[in-house]
Amino acid sequence: MRTSRRRTSAPAKVILFGEHFVVYGNPALLAAINKRTTADARVTESQRKITIESDLGISAEYLCASSRAIKRSMNNASMLDPIFDAISRVLVLRPAGNGVGVHLDLSSEVPYGIGLGSSAASCVATVAAVDSLFGAHDRQWICNKAVQAERTIHMNSSGADCYVSTFGGIMQYSRREGYTRIQPKTPLQLIVSSTGLRHSTGELVEKVRKLREAEKARFKGLALQASRICAAAVVAIQSGKTDEVGRLMTENQRLLKEIGVSHHLAETIIDLSLSAGALGAKITGAGGGGAVIALAASKRQSIEIVARLEKEDYESMEVQIDQKGLVYH
Ligand code: PMV
Repeated sequence: MRTSRRRTSAPAKVILFGEHFVVYGNPALLAAINKRTTADARVTESQRKITIESDLGISAEYLCASSRAIKRSMNNASMLDPIFDAISRVLVLRPAGNGVGVHLDLSSEVPYGIGLGSSAASCVATVAAVDSLFGAHDRQWICNKAVQAERTIHMNSSGADCYVSTFGGIMQYSRREGYTRIQPKTPLQLIVSSTGLRHSTGELVEKVRKLREAEKARFKGLALQASRICAAAVVAIQSGKTDEVGRLMTENQRLLKEIGVSHHLAETIIDLSLSAGALGAKITGAGGGGAVIALAASKRQSIEIVARLEKEDYESMEVQIDQKGLVYH
């Protein structure tokens, strides 16, 4: 059985607490946000050819079972290679997918390369869209395939971005304990802003690794504080103490600054957000530019904070936690 066209979408994510320290086994809190990447997949007559087009203005064409594109609209279209990998992983397991061509259109509501998990969301939505052309596997299967595709870009990815994008909500993650869903007592009203600077997660993780090597005892102390902040944040989120969540975010930011992953533009956005009334603010993800999250007490306040940041030309948006994860449209 085969359908000729399917559309899916999957949410982007923020890291509320614990980035970088999570690499060394500490916990982190991630949340899916209500900004999505949509994948539109259709079977085509052009046998064994896979074409991908993104709303970033790039496209690429591949042959099934080959590992390289046969045509790219421009050099940075190699960004689409993990998406091709995701499609291939599905087709190879589907007898009905043998010999067919697939065209995929991708569009996203979040900028890429600033730590909002747009590539994970693209991989999740792509695997699900192409899989559902031929039948449907469960979410865990979709997630696993998306993680494998994502690892073609971030070899050491924990897979947490794909997990949160697939299942939605707020998740506590640690290497040892895996994923635990955290239920907020009251909704979190967040603002996501961009410094406009793309970052390389790999380079920033490497920078932190060197610091940890050079200053073992100090790093251990900071990691312990990060763990405590994360544990306190879980309690505050579950009991609806939004002020406390905000205070802990700013405290987490202090640690991120100490390990050298903040950036002066991120600091400016954080200061502007706090002076506009945010309860707390921090970088989200690897840092070194990238994105900043701030927590507002109300919808009205978040509108004011966004206006304040946009006045200074920082691209900003209000976001809420997405509870749906992957959606089949
Ligand atoms: O790629 P980003 O910006 O979402 O950051 C990844 C989070 C890190 O903790 C810095 C790295 C990791 O693998 O967990």
